[in-house]
Amino acid sequence: MSEGEVRLVSGSPSAEDSLIEGSLRPSRLEEYIGQEKVKENMRVFISAAKSRGEPIDHCLFYGPPGLGKTTLAGVLAHEMGVNLRITSGPVLERAGDLAAILTGLKEGDILFIDEIHRMNPSVEEILYPAMEEFSIDIIVGQGPGARSIRLNVPRFTLVGATTRLGLLTAPLRERFGVLLRLEFYTPEELKRIIVRSAKILKVEIDEEGAYEIARRSRGTPRVANRLLKRARDYAQARADNVITLEVAKRALEMMEIDDGGLDALDREFMLTIIDKFEGGPVGIDTIAASISEEKQTLEDVCEPYLLQQGFIKRTPRGRVATALAYRYFNRTPASQTGALSLDSLKEERNA
Ligand code: ADE
Repeated sequence: MSEGEVRLVSGSPSAEDSLIEGSLRPSRLEEYIGQEKVKENMRVFISAAKSRGEPIDHCLFYGPPGLGKTTLAGVLAHEMGVNLRITSGPVLERAGDLAAILTGLKEGDILFIDEIHRMNPSVEEILYPAMEEFSIDIIVGQGPGARSIRLNVPRFTLVGATTRLGLLTAPLRERFGVLLRLEFYTPEELKRIIVRSAKILKVEIDEEGAYEIARRSRGTPRVANRLLKRARDYAQARADNVITLEVAKRALEMMEIDDGGLDALDREFMLTIIDKFEGGPVGIDTIAASISEEKQTLEDVCEPYLLQQGFIKRTPRGRVATALAYRYFNRTPASQTGALSLDSLKEERNA
């Protein structure tokens, strides 16, 4: 896949997503569909914080991309009646970048740091006292004349988001009062999200059409909304402006998204393990090199869904294709092909 091209089923946001997501994002907990456990937790600590008249505890959302971590931070801010400031780990290059943001916050505001596992260690260090004591230590001057001054920052709430809990340093993880894991959505939940989004986008869709898109959206609202937009384009250009089951199927086929919601990259990933590495175990670096794709994309986007669907297993020696994967891709494991003569095996190898 060429650079700049956006995978339709990628959980990572594209420029277009940010434009449409803004309008499709729910702003209240009541409107937010799915993630029932997370919502229940949030209800409790929002009401407790409100009754104490204090900001809510720092919280960390984790889970695969596209499941609504930023949206939930927005919901929190809205429910608490405070401002939301959004930034991300890689954007905060120097300690001063974070210091400038922190000193600009108002009492109770929410600071959202996406991809918090990718924060520079020097930035992370000033975050610790900010989270614990609401103060930061800044070094002014250089050399022997340098001194440290302590600045107070408003009592804020940090909401961190990460696709990889394991990559967070222990001291950072320990400073969050609340850890919430986002799960993949069920097709039913995604269908409700699609119907809601279709209303906002003013496109007509029937129940079956919505369910078909939902079923193939790999458990991810961002993917569902993206596929809905493509199906709308298709319905406008090639059908009567209504997304029916038939229209949804044709649109998805055009987008090369298969019956299980897998796209070309997922299939390439699976067939590499099955065909090139005899089902594995094979290391993620080897797979990435073999299909010229970034390891991180494979780990963050492809793998969580393939694991959840039971297509692959992770072992200490690498990834292994499951029996289910063999059946889905209509392949036969070598161990089940029965004995062949040496001559025919050689013939096969030389073919
Ligand atoms: N749009 C994107 N995610 C959503 C969600 N969880 N609920 C409602 N609308 C959404």
